[in-house]
Amino acid sequence: MTYLVTDNCIKCKHMDCVEVCPVDCFYEGENFLVINPDECIDCGVCEAECPAGAIFADNAIADADHWTEINLKYSLLWPNITTMRPEDVPVDAKEWDGVPNKYEEHFSEAPGKGD
Ligand code: SF4
Ligand code: F3S
Repeated sequence: MTYLVTDNCIKCKHMDCVEVCPVDCFYEGENFLVINPDECIDCGVCEAECPAGAIFADNAIADADHWTEINLKYSLLWPNITTMRPEDVPVDAKEWDGVPNKYEEHFSEAPGKGD
């Protein structure tokens, strides 16, 4: 089991999640964060921290295989992030909250800054 970052994080990217992870297993893309499923210890603390409700346990979502693949792939490509940067939270994050199909239409493969 692991926790996964899913669609609604894209272009919301609040980063509250990274502050609470005891094993620092978040990785940063330009407009999305992912969890490394092999490093996550399933503590569940991050789930409640996300203002966008974008984090789920893999056994709680129907498309877990899809999101596990994405989280694993990009956690190996992107830099680690352990500290939130409030100045880099998108100014229009609220407008993107709940927009459907963000992965298909708005996902960026570019890495973020990391720590
Ligand atoms: Fe980190 Fe715990 Fe969230 Fe896993 S469930 S990413 S260990 S805070
Ligand atoms: Fe994304 Fe939520 Fe973290 S929007 S960056 S998963 S706090």
